[in-house]
Amino acid sequence: MFRNLVIWAMVLMTFCFAVPFACGQAKIVDAEGHQWWQHAVFYEIYPRSFADSNNDGIGDLKGITSKMDYLKDLGVDAIWMTPCYPSPQIDFGYDVSDYENIDPMYGTLKDFDRLEADGQKRGIQIIMDFVMNHSSDQHQWFIDSRSSRTSTHRNWYVWHDGKGPGQPPNNWQSTFGHSAWTLDPKTNQYYYHYFYPEQPDLNWRNPAVEKAMFDVTRWWYDRGVAGFRLDAVDTLFEDPDLRDNPILPGKNKFGDPNMEDKYNVKLPEVHEVLRDLRKVADQHNAVLIGETWTKDVSELKQYYGEHSNELQMPMDFLFTTVNKVSAPEFRRQIAAVDSAGGWPVYVLSNHDIVRSYNRYGDGQHNDAIAKLMAGLYLSLRGTPIMYYGEEIGMENNDPKRKEDVKDPIGKIGWPQEKGRDGERTPMQWTSDANAGFTQGTPWLPVPPSYKTHNVANEQQDPNSILQFYRHLLALRHQNRALLDGDYVPLNENDPDVLSYLRRYKDQSVLVVLNMSSQARTIDLDLASKGINSKKAQTLLTTMGNEGKERTLPQMSLEPFSVYIGELSK
Ligand code: GLC
Ligand code: CA
Repeated sequence: MFRNLVIWAMVLMTFCFAVPFACGQAKIVDAEGHQWWQHAVFYEIYPRSFADSNNDGIGDLKGITSKMDYLKDLGVDAIWMTPCYPSPQIDFGYDVSDYENIDPMYGTLKDFDRLEADGQKRGIQIIMDFVMNHSSDQHQWFIDSRSSRTSTHRNWYVWHDGKGPGQPPNNWQSTFGHSAWTLDPKTNQYYYHYFYPEQPDLNWRNPAVEKAMFDVTRWWYDRGVAGFRLDAVDTLFEDPDLRDNPILPGKNKFGDPNMEDKYNVKLPEVHEVLRDLRKVADQHNAVLIGETWTKDVSELKQYYGEHSNELQMPMDFLFTTVNKVSAPEFRRQIAAVDSAGGWPVYVLSNHDIVRSYNRYGDGQHNDAIAKLMAGLYLSLRGTPIMYYGEEIGMENNDPKRKEDVKDPIGKIGWPQEKGRDGERTPMQWTSDANAGFTQGTPWLPVPPSYKTHNVANEQQDPNSILQFYRHLLALRHQNRALLDGDYVPLNENDPDVLSYLRRYKDQSVLVVLNMSSQARTIDLDLASKGINSKKAQTLLTTMGNEGKERTLPQMSLEPFSVYIGELSK
């Protein structure tokens, strides 16, 4: 009986592998049961800043569609678009006023369908951003909710009486500064918002809210989206007793007392919702990606679910906390997540974090370091999520004056907190004015480095960051060891050179990353891994004058260089 089942499972997997679309969105992509998202390269697009088709200075869906060939050629398999739903744009789309539409500034649902279809044609999946913790205060639900204490949607948000005159219900603070409670004079109660006051928290303890939000996901699945990135999942639930959070010493960048978000973040109820959302996702062969800020891998692990029944792709942001090019630090982080049991999800930066080019760059070797970082996270076992512009070495362009700041937290927290405008500037397509993003006035200015760091120039230059990404992604897509092979660390005490194997059956790919500004010669300890190859066939390297082969186990390496080669058997 069991044998028959196994045979049937194998037949089915082989069939799905050969005829993927008969099995939904290419759910299983190989005979070993890997799913499409495990072999995919994800790419985050900030729609305001990617490509502007109508020259109003703001990117749009038609703009994204016009760049589909670029993305395909780069090696992208799935795009995650940050929110493009109707929104007053207080938090640039993370304040949604209608979950089932497109903001006119970005286009129409028809434009979305076109984008989706053009993606499908090229095998590029579309992932939407699901802003589930809060809506905009302009959403019909909230407009009704605040209209009276007895309105239909009153209990869709978190309302409470103050503690006393002029006093909010408790000491909880918004992560964007100051009290998380705003008094609404109309009904003389406070509503809760973990983010801006214009982003009231939905009440996930109300089954009607849950149903409405689950229906939103079905609505988009039916339109063809392949999954969601779940925004701010940690913040869905609050302590029903509204207990005060413990105060910690010191003040934060907004001048508020430091606080442990004990009673309003990471409540266990979150996991129930994730399990239910996963059931719906599974019915649509969809993937759930989580915005999962965690303090360590054991916390991250919880988001996969005890029975792998929550998020397939909780993002590992721990990588982004290593803000220096450090072999020992990365080695430690990789080992932790690689052995955690789930499929790792690597991220270098996003629309909320300073760009990796600035975080890792030393001011002298930035381009080499950009390739080094790509060589690192794109050669690991797991799914990478790129951030637009990273592949051309885009840098942050932080506002210089408070009056130029667009992101409200930059105004509230200036000058300690300059906001997130710097990492959200327009994609640099050419060396023309405004980097070819728009013929109008871009909503944010591009940094001067666009003259050299842009798609058009880098397409012409065989040594550019862009070409390195293209080659690396092409290699990754076709090399079995890079896709699925185990991560086997080498020379674990080396302070400067991070080296490892990706091992799949009897195939081994060697990755060597010199994380120092000095040339280095290393002696690879392959013998202890039972490998006695004396040669590697070079697959990709940043080092000039490379032959097709390298002799092992000694290797000389240029500063900040990448070497990837296949070990001969
Ligand atoms: C997430 C988003 C961020 C947004 C916040 C509120 O952290 O990535 O950009 O401001 O949620 O929705
Ligand atoms: Ca536009």
